[in-house]
Amino acid sequence: MIKYVINGGKPLYGSVTISGAKNAVLGIIPAALLVEGVCRIENVPRISDVSLWLDILNFLGAKIRFINPTTLEIDSTSLRQVEPNYDMMRKMRASYYLIGALLGRFGSARVAMPGGCDLGDRPIDQHVKGFQVLGAEIDVRSGIVHASLPSGLRSGHVYFDKVSVGATINVMLAAVRAPGLTVLENAAKEPHIVDVANFLNSMGADVRGAGTDVIKIRGVPKMRGGIYSIIPDQIEAGTFIAAVSATGGDITIDNIIPKHLECITAKFTEMGVTIIDKDDALQIIRDKPIIRTNVKTLPYPGFPTDMQPQIAAVLCLANGTSVITESIWDNRFRYVDELRRMGAQIQVDGKTAVIDAVPSLTGAPVCACDLRAGAALVIAGLAAKGPTELTGVHHIERGYENLVEKLRMLGADISVIDTPDTESVFRVG
Ligand code: UD1
Repeated sequence: MIKYVINGGKPLYGSVTISGAKNAVLGIIPAALLVEGVCRIENVPRISDVSLWLDILNFLGAKIRFINPTTLEIDSTSLRQVEPNYDMMRKMRASYYLIGALLGRFGSARVAMPGGCDLGDRPIDQHVKGFQVLGAEIDVRSGIVHASLPSGLRSGHVYFDKVSVGATINVMLAAVRAPGLTVLENAAKEPHIVDVANFLNSMGADVRGAGTDVIKIRGVPKMRGGIYSIIPDQIEAGTFIAAVSATGGDITIDNIIPKHLECITAKFTEMGVTIIDKDDALQIIRDKPIIRTNVKTLPYPGFPTDMQPQIAAVLCLANGTSVITESIWDNRFRYVDELRRMGAQIQVDGKTAVIDAVPSLTGAPVCACDLRAGAALVIAGLAAKGPTELTGVHHIERGYENLVEKLRMLGADISVIDTPDTESVFRVG
């Protein structure tokens, strides 16, 4: 069993370089299926969700090669229209992007219902609504989404009832090939939506307005290849801000777009953390006690739900009581039980968590139940007194590139061990 062992209590110092954005690359890789030509994609994070996507594309007949560790070429010219492997698809939430990509490329798709982090109910009704406007018939049978276009792809006007990152990207993927003008209203505005749109445009699509809540797409008959570089990961950057806020210290976060981080940095500034903007880097200094605050997660540019567990770990060590309201997912406080093992005092009532700060956390054996929960437990372990053993780390490796190595470069005492299940520093007798 792979575990992270963390000996906490060490402040972080030094520089860390942020990798390409997970949620952008997970939309861009399937978008390459729409392109009949070579897509060169730079700044690709080496995370397990990317490997899974590449396995799926390979299975579909795309040619894939890495030019260097972070530059990838995908050539989907001779793609076969086959049903993607069910087991591969079930492992990843973003696998639903194959519906939009395959509808756009071939006019039909059969895709397993997505897997990924268990954050509560994860419907795809807004994706379906958008595809129907574009002329699709959608049917879910035996865990498979069957999508077809009996009269071909057409443009249309989609008004999303709910702001959804996935539905915005997915419908955009199909619409880039729909003749005429498609308008997506009440679209999500996250930086990775803009990144997927920019990728599509650099391959020959015509998408305007991404980053606002109205996206206009003029369909094109064909997309050629091109070169594109993925934006830095705002959530990875935010996770390092949370880590140094919990441990104290002074770090510089390189290769970021500060504008994308404003929804996160504003909160940490309010909490007494000093943040200095250095163009494509931020210096983060935590030399004073953390000030309590309240946090409500919202679609971009609100505070991201994907930073909620990490900021909760920091607020466990603030100077008073903080309230966190989760407004995106139904089930995003499952990590709280694990933080309690470390001495945190948190009460959860539905979508609200009340955190009564404690003077310190103590290391404990804990388990990551999902990706960002895992990041929160790493942060708690880095700040805690004594050793923490973290299992369930495969969740973390889905979305963070070299997290352990990056933290070690900042002076953290964290290592990866592969031991039998029964071996633990916490084992009595
Ligand atoms: C994406 C991110 C995920 C992040 C989330 C919210 C990727 C691969 N994942 O997930 O890390 O936590 O955005 O920022 O980019 N909803 C519906 N009907 C739908 C679709 C969504 O009701 O058809 C609801 C969901 O249940 C949820 C909310 O809308 O309550 C937001 O979901 P959405 O933005 O679609 O999240 P994902 O794209 O799955």
